Amino acid sequence: MKFTAAALVLAGAVSSVESAVLGERATYAVKGAAEGFAKGVTGGGSAACAVPSSTTQLKTWLSDSTARCIVLDKEFNFKGTEGTVTENGCRPASNKCPGNGGQDAINQASWCTNGNAGTGSTTIKVTYDKAGISGLIVGSNKSIIGVGSKGVLRGKGLRIANGAKNVIIQNIHITELNPQYIWGGDAIAVDGSDSVWIDHNKFSLIGRQMVVLGNGASNRVTISNNEFDGVTSWSATCDGHHYWTIYLTGSNDLVTLKGNYIHHTSGRSPKTGGNSLIHAVNNYWYANSGHAFDNGAGSKVIAEGNVFQNVVTPLLENKGNFFGAPTTTANAACSANLKHTCQINAFGSSGTLGGTDTSFFGSFAGKNVASAAAANAGTIQNGAGIGKI
Ligand SMILES: *[C@@H]1O[C@H](CO)[C@@H](O)[C@H](O)[C@H]1NC(C)=O
Repeated sequence: MKFTAAALVLAGAVSSVESAVLGERATYAVKGAAEGFAKGVTGGGSAACAVPSSTTQLKTWLSDSTARCIVLDKEFNFKGTEGTVTENGCRPASNKCPGNGGQDAINQASWCTNGNAGTGSTTIKVTYDKAGISGLIVGSNKSIIGVGSKGVLRGKGLRIANGAKNVIIQNIHITELNPQYIWGGDAIAVDGSDSVWIDHNKFSLIGRQMVVLGNGASNRVTISNNEFDGVTSWSATCDGHHYWTIYLTGSNDLVTLKGNYIHHTSGRSPKTGGNSLIHAVNNYWYANSGHAFDNGAGSKVIAEGNVFQNVVTPLLENKGNFFGAPTTTANAACSANLKHTCQINAFGSSGTLGGTDTSFFGSFAGKNVASAAAANAGTIQNGAGIGKI
């Protein structure tokens, strides 16, 4: 897990400020350990940490079948590495502000022509960066870690799929995946996996989902202490807020969502469904102009100890099971299976969450369940994102 930079040798000869920086750079390792469902994930394990020399080497290291600790100590820019594409896409019905802050669409999986783009959508030419629309393939047994706040993946996300498991992604910023287009790219896509820990990352200017757990079974996943920054100049809701944020619809998924700061979004934060058991604890939703949760059929959610500040609709629709930790009396029902009394959610200038269903609590029995603290916006905001660990 340790990587000693040659620069450390020089540390004694430079100023104290610089030597502190060099000292920090000298030893790289995953920090802390996953809480909740992905507890026990080891990623690259004891593999020596190393910095890839180029985007090409990064791509190779991520996808090969060697256990690795991959260090991002600078920006890796994939924009332009696969060229650009110009083709027919569409201006969907949702873009009521064309040329003025709206989001047009790439015709991914015939989305523009199969009715999803809505009545009144029109065909337009779209030009996008090809690297953005598919993620870098990540194999099993990988740790991907950033240094300070310098680890940036620009123009391409990560894809953990087809049975890849035991992956840690910590302290990196994924940004600029064709943000002007719906289907412009996903920052982190997981589809058919196990033991994935997504921790202390930042996501911004993403065309499609910031985190998507697709339709395959992704089993145990912990998404913790990330900043989901929805500020955008291309909003599907024409209001500077990103709509497509977190999508959890795996066929057999256990998802811990803890300590995340999810701000300036307008929907799907998260959209849930499939067969997902979701523990959303101590997250902070801020300035959401639409909805946070949209709970589809088949998903079971406990939301506790969260803060909703300026969130118009905390829960859009509930077709599954949803417990919103409504009262201290009701919250005692958590103890038997979660091993703690649930924490009440906090609301400021927001709609209501509701959710009194306790019928599914047995699904948490025997699982690794994250702890819960009293809802506290400041603590969550200060601890989420890159450069914090
Ligand atoms: C990942 O690590 C485990 C445990 O060491 C090992 O059994 C498995 O084969 C590794 N997977 C790959 C793809 O190398």
